[in-house]
Amino acid sequence: MLGEDCLPLVPLVPLPAPRSAEARGADDGADRRFDALSELVHQVAARKVVFLGRRSGLQPRGGRVVSMIDLAEVDTVRPTLPEPQGALLRQIARVINAVAHPITVSVTSPLDLLRELFTVKGAGTLVRRGMVVQSATSWEGLDRERLLTVIEEAFGKTLVPEFSSRPFLRAYVAGDYRGGAIVTETTLAPYLSKFAVTTVARGEGVGRDLWRNLTGDFPRLFWRSRADNPITSWYREQCDGLQRFTLDGKPWVALWRGLAPPDLATAIEYCQRTQPDFDP
Ligand SMILES: CC(C)(COP(=O)(O)OP(=O)(O)OC[C@H]1O[C@@H](n2cnc3c(N)ncnc32)[C@H](O)[C@@H]1OP(=O)(O)O)[C@@H](O)C(=O)NCCC(=O)NCCS
Repeated sequence: MLGEDCLPLVPLVPLPAPRSAEARGADDGADRRFDALSELVHQVAARKVVFLGRRSGLQPRGGRVVSMIDLAEVDTVRPTLPEPQGALLRQIARVINAVAHPITVSVTSPLDLLRELFTVKGAGTLVRRGMVVQSATSWEGLDRERLLTVIEEAFGKTLVPEFSSRPFLRAYVAGDYRGGAIVTETTLAPYLSKFAVTTVARGEGVGRDLWRNLTGDFPRLFWRSRADNPITSWYREQCDGLQRFTLDGKPWVALWRGLAPPDLATAIEYCQRTQPDFDP
């Protein structure tokens, strides 16, 4: 549609030929073809559209493939891309804006298609509407049961009964309870106690939406993660520092952002001695 870099996966949108060059104006017909694609997406209620090209995703000049782009970031990312990719991104944003139901659009290569479709991390660029994140400072502002269910489902464990009455500093909910996070108070700094996205919604950027909100609210933050949790590699990019430690014979990491060096020993010690909130 926009050159060999950006061929649509399902090129089945019949279009009448433009009547005249004048009617066509500066437009090469791409807008109308993508409008027809939006209509098709709307009619079949497609939740995902994949564009296959030679490159495995949208790649800024001289940079690495961008793994995820929210609609709000499109205007910032477009100028960094080679022209055909920038044009494709503009059209993708138009498609997402044109349909009312939730939809994600991926750009990847045929070789990476299976990884993009069937792994949580994906392989390519995912373009999506950012999710609305609400937050509250007490359970009264939330549907307690739904948030607890999200956490238990995401971790695959049952929370200890007293967890549901413990106070927190701020809790976050993304979309219609597709994910949630809980930040608690400590004498040192805010502590990220829970960060969870339901299994069906994983890899679509819900975690990123939550993360952006909670790190915006709490520039000083620390948390812990099992060393073998797949998300730990992403945490490493988000943190200012980390320390490995062992808990019940298992390797963990304590991570932090915005903490001063004298605070670190206290943060690590807190991560080491905090009891799990889940039933054994
Ligand atoms: C951790 C969790 C909240 C992430 O939520 P998510 O909505 O899938 O995350 P996103 O889609 O927003 O991805 C955020 C980043 O993590 C990366 N990521 C997500 N899942 C990943 C995985 N399984 N392996 C490697 N990276 C992964 C994404 O690539 C993305 O990085 P990028 O922005 O550089 O592309 C979710 O996997 C979860 O609930 N896990 C179970 C509970 C848990 O372990 N919580 C953390 C305890 S410390």
